[in-house]
Amino acid sequence: MDYKKLIVEDLQKVIGEELSAEVLYNSLEVPKMSTHGDYAFPTFSLAKVYRKAPNMIAEDLIEKLDKAHYENIVAVGGYINFFLNKGEVSQTVLTTILNEKEHYGDANIGQGRNIPVDMSSPNIAKPMSMGHLRSTVIGNSLAELSGKIGYQPVKINHLGDWGTQFGKLIVAFKKWGSEEAVREEPIAELLKLYVQFHDEAEEHPELEEEGRAWFKKLEDNDPEAVRLWEWFREESLKEFQAVYDMLDITFDSYAGEAFYNDKMDPIIKDLEDKNLLVSDQGADIVDLEKYDLNPALIRKSDGATLYITRDLAAANYRIENYDFVEALYVVGNEQSGHFKQLKAVLKEMGHDWSDNIKHIPFGLITSGGKKLSTRKGNVILLEEVLNEAIKTTKAGIEEKNPGLENKDEVAHQVGVGAVVFHDLKNDRMNTFDFNLDDIIQFEGETGPYVQYTRSRCESILAKAEWTPGNADAALSLNDEDSWEVIKCLDNFPKKIQEAYQKYEPSVMAKFLIDLAQKFNKYYSKHKILENDEQKEARLSLVYSVSVVIKEGLRLLGIKSPDKM
Ligand code: ARG
Repeated sequence: MDYKKLIVEDLQKVIGEELSAEVLYNSLEVPKMSTHGDYAFPTFSLAKVYRKAPNMIAEDLIEKLDKAHYENIVAVGGYINFFLNKGEVSQTVLTTILNEKEHYGDANIGQGRNIPVDMSSPNIAKPMSMGHLRSTVIGNSLAELSGKIGYQPVKINHLGDWGTQFGKLIVAFKKWGSEEAVREEPIAELLKLYVQFHDEAEEHPELEEEGRAWFKKLEDNDPEAVRLWEWFREESLKEFQAVYDMLDITFDSYAGEAFYNDKMDPIIKDLEDKNLLVSDQGADIVDLEKYDLNPALIRKSDGATLYITRDLAAANYRIENYDFVEALYVVGNEQSGHFKQLKAVLKEMGHDWSDNIKHIPFGLITSGGKKLSTRKGNVILLEEVLNEAIKTTKAGIEEKNPGLENKDEVAHQVGVGAVVFHDLKNDRMNTFDFNLDDIIQFEGETGPYVQYTRSRCESILAKAEWTPGNADAALSLNDEDSWEVIKCLDNFPKKIQEAYQKYEPSVMAKFLIDLAQKFNKYYSKHKILENDEQKEARLSLVYSVSVVIKEGLRLLGIKSPDKM
């Protein structure tokens, strides 16, 4: 509930027309210290009108204010400090959560309109990098958040499955490859062949020509080229799928770059008709000088299309098929130039919707301060990281809670949750250094800490054999510790919206850490199961915390086991 609105209504009754509701609303502050109340209204701007010292104005206004909804209202240093009625607010907040359960925080801001989310998008025949992991989990969370507030997300895996490198790969496979080796370890073997191609091509430059010729065959639907390409793609996808399964992430579309192979001609024609295509040493480019950008290379002198050409076709396909309100592209910051060019070319083509194309960049993951690169072989294999996290979690469970049921499932949910949470809790633009020990920490501001807090809630509720009733008992809550938890719970819907509007899952991750910390403080100071008149209220609170943590983690793509 928006208590600021309540305060604004009360203030308007005593201030009158002097300040609009909007001005009042925006001037309300949340004091840094809770001893200064829940909201504070600065009276300084009224000093000229009333010709009085601010604190006098504050005192006069308080005299006239309707105090029904407040525990206390005091004038301090020119501010009116409002203390909300803890019991009333607690009752309202907990009643809402008890009624709405996992739907608490749902909104209909999106009104069912589509949001394509371009995410993950690894390259065929190459290992999925930590960058692709970031894209996968950030994209997935943004999709969940958008769905929660009423949009219809469409998760698209824009696979890198087209381009001249596939011609080279075919040549390398035909010369040095074996079918068994590829079947055994597809990506490792294909990567090896690709690297070998580049090494050999240094001494035998004619290989490059062969590679180009085979890509041309592929573009022209030569059966052998197509068969090999499809097979490479299929084998690579199997490996990617193993990671997606571990993360329990699905896609609505796997339309990758190859999907647009037959959809680029109309775009190029359109560019020609609009006189945007300029010939430059045999190649076709779009000049973007007025955007202060490098020219966009659309077609090479040999007729080959490029990454951006396929993205132009993809953007057109998405507007036609999804009629999107906005289209997100969750792709590393190093591609920001590419997306600026993409938007600029679409703008030049007269597409106003290009403004609704949003590149959602994120920072690099480095290792020992160095960039991770496929070429040099210093990639960190995702599957290994996830497996390592699960293994460590399992060992911890064996040590601390050997009798736990479904140990493997719990270890999976907690281990994978640790990796995902570690990624999402940082502002997405932050670069961070990869360190496995850091990632599988269970204490401090981690995913397992949040999951553990919820399993604690569940075990209390099970012990009490409690089932949700109404939250009227919450009227009796009046201590500072429960109040901190209540205010946090009350903020959940706003945090969901903020996380989506800023495209920052970290807003949700940080919120969950804050909620868990506040709840654990409450738990350490209050005996939840003591038989007194507040017991029902405390249990409603515990239940509500569990509901909100579970839903908050779901929005991050993380599971929460009841027991751990
Ligand atoms: N495959 C590309 C890469 O790994 C990312 C593709 C991102 N999506 C897009 N529509 N360009 O760098």
